[in-house]
Amino acid sequence: MRAGPPLAETVLVLPYGRQSIDDEDIAAVITALRAPLLTCGPLVGRFEAALAALVGAPYATACSSGTAALHLAYAALGIGEGDEIITTPITFSATAAAAYYVGATVRIADTDPRTGNLDPASVEALITSRTRAIVPVHLAGQPAELARLTALARAHGLRLIEDACHALGATSGGVPIGGGDSDAVVYSFHPVKHVTTGEGGAVVVRNADIKRRLDRLRQHGIERDPERMQARPEGPWAYEVQELGWNYRLPDLACALGLSQLTRLPAFVARRRALAARYRAALAATFGASAYGDTLEAPLAAPVEIAGRESAYHLFAIAADWAHFGTTRARTVAALAEAGIGTQVHYIPLLQHPLHAARCPGELARPRPGADRYYARTLSLPMFPAMHDADVDRVVAALHRALVRTTEGPTQ
Ligand SMILES: Cc1ncc(COP(=O)(O)O)c(C=O)c1O
Repeated sequence: MRAGPPLAETVLVLPYGRQSIDDEDIAAVITALRAPLLTCGPLVGRFEAALAALVGAPYATACSSGTAALHLAYAALGIGEGDEIITTPITFSATAAAAYYVGATVRIADTDPRTGNLDPASVEALITSRTRAIVPVHLAGQPAELARLTALARAHGLRLIEDACHALGATSGGVPIGGGDSDAVVYSFHPVKHVTTGEGGAVVVRNADIKRRLDRLRQHGIERDPERMQARPEGPWAYEVQELGWNYRLPDLACALGLSQLTRLPAFVARRRALAARYRAALAATFGASAYGDTLEAPLAAPVEIAGRESAYHLFAIAADWAHFGTTRARTVAALAEAGIGTQVHYIPLLQHPLHAARCPGELARPRPGADRYYARTLSLPMFPAMHDADVDRVVAALHRALVRTTEGPTQ
């Protein structure tokens, strides 16, 4: 990574996440701007091939966002009216909303209280004759329990669709997320993610027919291969609209940026992991063993990294018992903001949103103690590759002031 002054000295706010764009990224986009085709050109296939190779999968379809990728994945795998998918409450709205787009119903399981990732036992309890897919989210970049979820999906004849929008560059059992056996793995290239295309997303699959359907649905349901048309083509201009699709294309401009960014992914992930290690060391040194630990009981804990599952650290989400420190999350967030430090909460559980409560009325009554506990404690601190070690130290010092000063005296 290129060195520069600590960001905290050069910008007012240290955001919780942001892109890293260098001169090569910019040069790649300028070159693409001068090319004959701004969209539907050769960079799309090149970006798809590079992504597929990187995660160890045969096929990728690039599209306009992670949300579009989820929609395409559900549609291409045949999920539709009357079907159910099972997912986690601790996710971004799109994981569930994209299922509504295809007419499916969403069942919401519980999570591990430490990671916020799907609890396989709670998934199993929700499987019915209408269930078509299990959709884990690798929250914050920490891989979900893929082995158990895959076994469950196989045992019940269900699709496994990974929402890996946080997990490009993560590994599970030594296998990159995206390189396993799932039916589809979905990524987002929003600027806070591991690599960016401005806006963008992709679906990675192992099956050639599903790849073909993803490509068709991305472009209005259009088929151009004469061998696959229902009518004999009248001429070289012929194409058939074979099913209802969308315009979810990712332009060459964005793919140029994505191709350049993908070459930097290993360095990005390594830097995120180094920053996480720095956070852990600084939190331990600053808060001491009486306040900081890695168990559920600790008043303050860094994110849990499960053995054999390497997090890509999209987020660095601490878990705090705010009451132990005599404060609230809202007051802590305000104190950090005053110190120029941005934070975020990932995520408000789905059913707390009016849309999802209205769409999933049957889901409201069931308790979800794991997710409730995770949500009550979580707070995402700044985490992005351009951060310096000094930025981490500054965040931890400000967190200490926000939490410990409140226990020493009233802050009103
Ligand atoms: C877990 C998860 N799923 C889906 C999405 C949707 O991705 P996009 O913003 O690219 O549409 C996001 C993006 O924030 C996400 O974090």
